[in-house]
Amino acid sequence: MKTVLVTGANRGLGLEFCLQYAQAGWQVFAACRDPQNAQDLNRIAEQYKSIQVVTLDVRQHDQIDSLALKFMGKPLDLLISNAGVYGDSVGHGFGAINYSDWRDTLEVNVMSAIKLAESFKEPLAKSEQGLFVAISSLMGSVADNGSGGSILYRSSKAALNAAMKSLSFDIKPAGIGVLIFHPGWVRTDMGGPNGLCDASESIAGMRQQIEKFEMQQSGQFIKYDGTKMPW
Ligand SMILES: NC(=O)c1ccc[n+]([C@@H]2O[C@H](COP(=O)([O-])OP(=O)(O)OC[C@H]3O[C@@H](n4cnc5c(N)ncnc54)[C@H](OP(=O)(O)O)[C@@H]3O)[C@@H](O)[C@H]2O)c1
Repeated sequence: MKTVLVTGANRGLGLEFCLQYAQAGWQVFAACRDPQNAQDLNRIAEQYKSIQVVTLDVRQHDQIDSLALKFMGKPLDLLISNAGVYGDSVGHGFGAINYSDWRDTLEVNVMSAIKLAESFKEPLAKSEQGLFVAISSLMGSVADNGSGGSILYRSSKAALNAAMKSLSFDIKPAGIGVLIFHPGWVRTDMGGPNGLCDASESIAGMRQQIEKFEMQQSGQFIKYDGTKMPW
């Protein structure tokens, strides 16, 4: 049975990843900050016994380390670093930047991904083809930025992309691949109601790309349908 760990698993894209991987027969470790209040996740975990809900606030590196300890000696096939925050808020654009929110955004969207890769390197290396997936955004593309704004979010996803590109080289000797995704503009709490696709379509597409991943693709930044994204 293949294994996947998903962060930010209680709603949005993370929840849909858990559902679809459980339906596909995977063992799913669904990590969220507050399992007691994760009603939707607990509901699907009732339905699919292969879903195990675990507690993880990705800003808490001690929590990442304790969770990783439970995986030591066992293979983990896929780690999806999905948890993310938008950070930017109305009234806090250029001229009124909230620097505390910016720091939090960088901790959640960037640093946690590298910390997860550091802590879970051993279980991922034990898999036949361990893969680390980061859910980024086209908004992290410098080349694509034609409108400005969203300084916190854009800078965090650009930093995530840079960090993941380096990770793809740094972790290659352990046989672990890295894929960076733009999931599309998806109708979730973060994407809002005007998104261009729903979570099921986005996740089905990313699962297909993950399924056919080959090591020479490691470090690519792609959309859920496999289209290469500009850096
Ligand atoms: N939706 C889109 O259109 C879109 C587009 C491009 C990229 N993305 C990226 O896709 C990923 C998922 O987005 P989404 O649309 O599903 O957003 P969402 O519906 O807002 O869900 C965000 C998830 O991240 C979790 N999270 C936030 N801070 C966390 C922390 N410190 N520790 C653990 N979990 C934390 C949230 O948990 P809580 O419930 O505890 O807050 C929630 O489960 C994000 O990285 C986002 O940037 C989304």
